[in-house]
Amino acid sequence: MRTLDLDGLAVVDDLGDGIRGGTGPDLLTDPGWVVPPVPEDVPEGTMAWLRARVARFSSGEAHARRRALAIGALGALGALGVSDGPDVNAEALRDAARTRTQELLSASGTVEVMARVARVVPADVLAASFGLPVTADSAGLVGDVARAYHAHGEPVPAADHALTRLVADCGGTWDETTAARIGLLVQAYDATAGLIGNTAYLALTGAGAGAGAGLAPEPPPEPSAALATDRLDQALRTDPPVRGTLRAPVDGGDPVRVGLVTSDGSLAFGAGAHACPGQAHARALAAGVLDALLARGCRLVSPDIAYEPSVNLRVPVALEVVCG
Ligand code: HEM
Repeated sequence: MRTLDLDGLAVVDDLGDGIRGGTGPDLLTDPGWVVPPVPEDVPEGTMAWLRARVARFSSGEAHARRRALAIGALGALGALGVSDGPDVNAEALRDAARTRTQELLSASGTVEVMARVARVVPADVLAASFGLPVTADSAGLVGDVARAYHAHGEPVPAADHALTRLVADCGGTWDETTAARIGLLVQAYDATAGLIGNTAYLALTGAGAGAGAGLAPEPPPEPSAALATDRLDQALRTDPPVRGTLRAPVDGGDPVRVGLVTSDGSLAFGAGAHACPGQAHARALAAGVLDALLARGCRLVSPDIAYEPSVNLRVPVALEVVCG
């Protein structure tokens, strides 16, 4: 599978100490720069169709219309006001994610959290909240689509097949409303898995405890709702799952990569017209998963960690834990 070739891209910031000339994140709100466009005239039944119909790869009026559809679908999840975004019943999402994680952790022994939990719970809970059928295959189908979402240019038959099944689950109509719901599941898939994985790693290694050099390690803090939220905030600041995104000049020209890692985590969910509309949902889903992992007393089998090969995402490949 070919992903958009990042090797030749200019990097607008250096992901290091500072953002060169302050130009990096400014591009996200600069009308002279847009999300790199995708072909619009593409057949139904293909990943190119999904890219051509979602807010993520659109600009201008089409973007506003498609983003409103996405926010409408997210907003239908509940009625607790969240400023500058869709309404979300955060507690209901968190409860649902906690319950689903408890079910998945019920087997004793070692659990690989990324494959068994972090890549399953957000997709299952969101799909259920959209009224879509949830089966043992659901999260896997979303994963098949997500893996090809950014792979512009080359057909991926397995992804087209999975997309066709998800469209059927949505009622079988290839329209923008269907694309919006599938787009939400796909956007949530890797990013929320990364948020869960990075937060779990931080919480379970005690890296978040703030132990100073030379001090005896402190006992792990008691699990609580506040603990999960605190560790999430910390992971979003120090180890965010989405590290960069692309923008291109509005009048054509090569895309550049805009880094999203800052010292205060203020760009973890992006900025500008495409800023993540699922932020409150992602936090609630990840918090529910963390609640369950912490309450079960899960411990990492090994502190060694590897990340998926991706320039813009930081998602652990695997996190094995023993619970109970
Ligand atoms: C429930 C989970 C999530 C949902 C439903 C969701 C949904 C979306 C959608 C629909 C967009 C495109 C918006 C547009 O183009 O107008 C988006 C963008 C974005 N999301 Fe999320 N997202 C989720 C989780 C996350 C997480 C966990 C992160 C990282 C911490 C994240 C970071 C971003 C960023 C950085 C963008 C902007 C990309 C850009 O400007 O190029 N999202 N999200």
